[in-house]
Amino acid sequence: MARSLLQITDLSADEIWHIFDLCKMMKRGEAAPKPYAGKTVGTIFHKPSLRTRLSFEAGIAELGGHSLYITKDEIDLGKRESIHDAAKVMSRYLATIVIRTFSHADVEGLAAHADVPVINALTDLTHPCQILGDYFTLLEKRGPRDDYKIVYLGDGNNITNSWLNLAARIPMRLTIATSTATPPDEAILKRAKELGVSDILLTDDPKEAVRGADVIYTDVWASMGQKDKAEEKARLLKQYQVNSTLLEQASPYCLVMHCLPAERGKEITDEVMDGPHSVVFDEAENRLHIQKAIMVFLMA
Ligand code: CP
Ligand code: NVA
Repeated sequence: MARSLLQITDLSADEIWHIFDLCKMMKRGEAAPKPYAGKTVGTIFHKPSLRTRLSFEAGIAELGGHSLYITKDEIDLGKRESIHDAAKVMSRYLATIVIRTFSHADVEGLAAHADVPVINALTDLTHPCQILGDYFTLLEKRGPRDDYKIVYLGDGNNITNSWLNLAARIPMRLTIATSTATPPDEAILKRAKELGVSDILLTDDPKEAVRGADVIYTDVWASMGQKDKAEEKARLLKQYQVNSTLLEQASPYCLVMHCLPAERGKEITDEVMDGPHSVVFDEAENRLHIQKAIMVFLMA
């Protein structure tokens, strides 16, 4: 079975640091590997995407390859034929499969049967490339430290779960501030806490949470596939909005992060998103470099 990246916990801490090193080299232009020369990478998208799709396609081209964009209409994964059969067939044409879909179990099924690396480009459960890129952005801005206080505010979702997975490998102080009705995945939270690599706190108090924060992170209150719950989530989560009043409680050097796309005026105000603490567009840029590093690592 080829090596895949479905969750950050598929990687050891050493491998994560190696990916960050590769990322730095590629961003500086110190390395220009071409693992996909003469090869094709399939990018399957069952949900919309700007950053992930564009950065993967650009990255695949920069690594010498050709990318093939595949929508639900073409393959209808798991419906038109079994995931097993689709994985076996795709492995005969493609050097890597990048997939964004709803069900994390479908991606696990694909990786279990594919003979080439599978990269999770977001499921309902996790978004590993995003959080690896975001931590790289923190390293670039502030350097390595094992006691960063990262505070996630808002819906307990695939982004929150991915922070927990990173905290299961790399030491940090991770605080998740959300309502009791919108927690992160129970099993992922439990595993991250049990591993004991990081200090992890779940709270429903946003003001207390951000005190002394080095990073304040937020994401949309209703993720893709949950837009029917937008009103209910907005009601539950409005006190977790990242705005300038909340920011006053954090460290003066704190970075504000958002995976984007943002719903400005809901989970984050314009003032903060366009303000001096915000690094949201650096995070977006780093998606390109981290995904190139991930592809090089998996193809080695
Ligand atoms: N952050 C992120 O994954 O953005 P897209 O949904 O636009 O790919
Ligand atoms: N939680 C968001 C992240 C988008 C990049 C979603 O899944 O829609």
